[in-house]
This record gives sequence, C-alpha cells and structure tokens, in this order.
Amino acid sequence: MFPRLVAAEHRGTYQRQQLTSGIPEMDALLGGGIETGSSTLILGPAGTGKSLITMIFAAAAVARGEKAALFIFDEEMGLLFDRMKYLGIDLQALHDSGNLMIEQVDAAELSPGEFSHRVRRCVDQGDIKTVIIDSINGYQAAMPEENALVLHMHELLLYLNRKGAATFMTVAQHGLVGDMQAPVDITYLADTVILLRYFEALGKVRRAISIIKKRTGSHESTIREYRISSQGMTIGEPLEAFQGVLRGVPTYHGASMPLLVDENP
Ligand SMILES: Nc1ncnc2c1ncn2[C@@H]1O[C@H](COP(=O)(O)OP(=O)(O)OP(=O)(O)O)[C@@H](O)[C@H]1O
Ligand SMILES: [Mg+2]
Repeated sequence: MFPRLVAAEHRGTYQRQQLTSGIPEMDALLGGGIETGSSTLILGPAGTGKSLITMIFAAAAVARGEKAALFIFDEEMGLLFDRMKYLGIDLQALHDSGNLMIEQVDAAELSPGEFSHRVRRCVDQGDIKTVIIDSINGYQAAMPEENALVLHMHELLLYLNRKGAATFMTVAQHGLVGDMQAPVDITYLADTVILLRYFEALGKVRRAISIIKKRTGSHESTIREYRISSQGMTIGEPLEAFQGVLRGVPTYHGASMPLLVDENP
C-alpha cells in the first residue's frame, strides 16, 4: 500500500529560476528557458525526438552542477544509453558522476500510487531539481483507467512544482503525419507544452518544433525546423514562409528557403 500523495500538505518556498537547455534556439523558443517548479510536456509522434529533448535538459542540469532523475518506462536502458551516446549525451558518464539517477520502471509490476511514492522518495532524498518521466504512455499501462492516471499525475506534478523541481514528461501520439490522437490528454496539466511534428517538404521528411503553451511566461509562437544527428539537436530559423507544417503537409509561400541545408544530399 502506498499513501496517497496530497500535494497541499507540502507547500514549499523556493526561488523561481529559469533553466536553459544549452541550445540557444530552444531557449529562444521557450522565451528563455523552463522555470523551476513547472512541468513540461513533450508531445509528438513516435521517433520525433521526445526522449532526446528530455535528456538534453537532464544533461544541462548536471552540467550546472544540479541533480536530475530519469524514470524510464518503455525502453531498454542499454539501448537508450547507446542511442543517446551517439547523439552526444553520455548518460553512463552522467550516471557515474552520481548526479543523474536513472530508474527503469516496469509498468507491469507497478501498483497505483507506487510510482508517485518512488518519485517523491527520490526527489526528497536526492535533492533533485529535474525530473524526467519517459513516457506517460508507459505509466498509463500501469493504470488503464485514464481518470486515475490524470489524478495521480496531477498530484505528483503539484508536489514536484511545490518542491521547486522542473518536471519533463513525454507523450507519444498515435499517427505519424496529419491528424493525431494522444492516448491520454494531460496537456492541461502541464505548464509548458512542446509539440514535435514530422512534415514533408522538397521530397524529404523533416521535423518541426513549436511551443504550444507556456503558463509561466512568454514564448515564441514560431515553428522551427530541427534535425537530429551525431551533433545532437540542431534547430533552424523560424519557418515563416510555410503553412501547414503542424498538419504535416506544408505549402511554401515565400521567396527564400529557410529550411536546414542537408549535410548529405
Ligand atoms: N544513431 C542515430 N543516428 C541518427 N539519428 C538517430 C540515431 N539515433 C537516434 N536518431 C534519431 O533520433 C530519433 C529518436 O529520438 P528519440 O528516442 O528521442 O525519439 P522519441 O520521440 O522519444 O521516440 P519514441 O516515440 O520511440 O520514444 C530517431 O527517430 C532518429 O531519427
Ligand atoms: Mg522516447
């Protein structure tokens, strides 16, 4: 049995700060960065780079000398380590430094309430300021009832926010381009929502990033193209001459070509 987490009992005081990702274009999109004590949802179809973005924030936290915790639901840890290493993030080294706590969670063995309990214990004992939950789809598998999941997440996020931690969560949407459905809607729980999309232009599948909402301040309302390579994540200039990027099939209205130039044409 795990006691229900009642966030109202845990009001904390802390100084609100802005956390940066280390990628200037990402921070510009976010109006400077992500506030401590806020939650961020990264939403997008499979393979867009949701996990990578969370790891970028975790690595930035450790680089600042802070501690971060990573709860992985749906990936095999070894594969994740290999993949992220290729993309320029050495999770093993971050873990070995003692500043990145990584926990693999098996949704099949999780009872409702247990996950909140584990996150809370970890944050309280380890003075952790960045918490990553990858992914909510995985957590949902432990809680087939959407209402229960939303309630638990609501309490957990309130608790973490009051502790001054920044929480990053990912949700994989069904579909690849065009209309997309999320298996669970927690967009209204998150303070910031980062939306990732595939789009087609000039015969290639490209990726776009946009900030849909940010409760704690202003942000860019632009759509930017990004690319994932061994250099990590490269974000381009705002795609002002395109329409329909978020629908996945943009049309081009302009004279210049602001798309990222291909490294291997
Ligand atoms: N070795 C690699 N070389 C080039 N690109 C890679 C490599 N490894 C990963 N990528 C890119 O990174 C993307 C995966 O990033 P990430 O795991 O963050 O996506 P995700 O949105 O979390 O995916 P999922 O929905 O499956 O969890 C891949 O789609 C791929 O394009
Ligand atoms: Mg992922």
